[in-house]
Amino acid sequence: MNTRFKIMISTLFIVTSISYAQKSNSFDIKNELVYCVAQASKTLKVIPDDGTSPRSVPNGSKEWKFVNYKDWTSGFWPGELWYLYEATGDKKWEKEADKFSRFLTPLSVTKASDHDLGFQIFNSFGNGYRLTKNKEYKNSILKTADTLATLFNPKVGTILSWPNNKYGGHNTIIDNMMNLELLFWASKNGGNKKLYNIAVKHAETTMQNHFRPDFTSYHLIIYDNETGKKIKGITAQGYSDDSMWARGQAWAIYGFTMVYRETKNPKFLDFAHQLARVYLNKLTTEDLVPYWDFNAPDIPNEPRDASAAAIVSSALIELSSFTKDKNLKSEYLTKSKKMIVSLSDYYQSRDINSAFLLHATGHKPAGSEIDCSINYADYYYLEALLRLQKLK
Ligand code: GLY
Repeated sequence: MNTRFKIMISTLFIVTSISYAQKSNSFDIKNELVYCVAQASKTLKVIPDDGTSPRSVPNGSKEWKFVNYKDWTSGFWPGELWYLYEATGDKKWEKEADKFSRFLTPLSVTKASDHDLGFQIFNSFGNGYRLTKNKEYKNSILKTADTLATLFNPKVGTILSWPNNKYGGHNTIIDNMMNLELLFWASKNGGNKKLYNIAVKHAETTMQNHFRPDFTSYHLIIYDNETGKKIKGITAQGYSDDSMWARGQAWAIYGFTMVYRETKNPKFLDFAHQLARVYLNKLTTEDLVPYWDFNAPDIPNEPRDASAAAIVSSALIELSSFTKDKNLKSEYLTKSKKMIVSLSDYYQSRDINSAFLLHATGHKPAGSEIDCSINYADYYYLEALLRLQKLK
């Protein structure tokens, strides 16, 4: 590298750092919530009146792609509406949240087609019940928890994630950790007490089998249906079986933090710290928003995944609340806030489309939803803003 080029790079770095600092100083959670309200208001105007909800906006488009209640992401839009109701107290959002949650009611009374029932029902009716105590919502949550539990295989000790898939055997994906919250909640709110044991067993089995020695996560583990033995680890949505898919690690950090909250068993807390540690240590981006896979071959020319940053920023706020070590607590909070500020300053969609964020990546190996807006990035971004606000 010649001297002039070195000076250019250093100047660029200093200018970027100064502008980053200036932006950070102006960060105000209230402004970001006002922004989310404005974007969601625009989205509401374009949703067809046919029971569907917005899932993603392709890169370069302004148009949402809409999905019906069966889609795995169908709970995120109603969840965002509940969070907006929580943020504003405005009944308009409660009415919309109620309407879009109710589209999901059939899930509580149909046979389970996969593990995503937690994402779908707990983000919609779960938030709805937390804020309104509506008994109908509670009923849907309890019934859905029983439905999800039908996928539990006691020989393996986990819930079957994808009953209809090409891999064979009993498969469990790391995302499935997120859906345990539905079971914990149901077991403590009038549902079957066995749901608690199923959730704990799933978490223990996952802790034992789903991770490499360095605490990075596989996406998917295939188990033998009969013996319960682990057959192999696969990373279907990541770059390779041995790579660290950003959102998979994000689900793991969030999931084990939540399992500690629900069980208070310190082994889950220790584990969540290990998962967060490897994520933060391997994170090389200045803005703390990861590439879609930490081992993707063309870094720095790989798409980012704003959804992973949103999930981790929210999880770190909760993990910090369980952390007695002052330095670690401060690191989690500082980094979480930096992620939220980055997302706010550099990743918001603004006039490009009416989602909250750009630059999320859904399924790169399948060529689907790359570098675009996705409802779960928006959901966890809004959740992180609200969690940060509650700290203050
Ligand atoms: N649960 C699927 C995903 O994270 O893309």
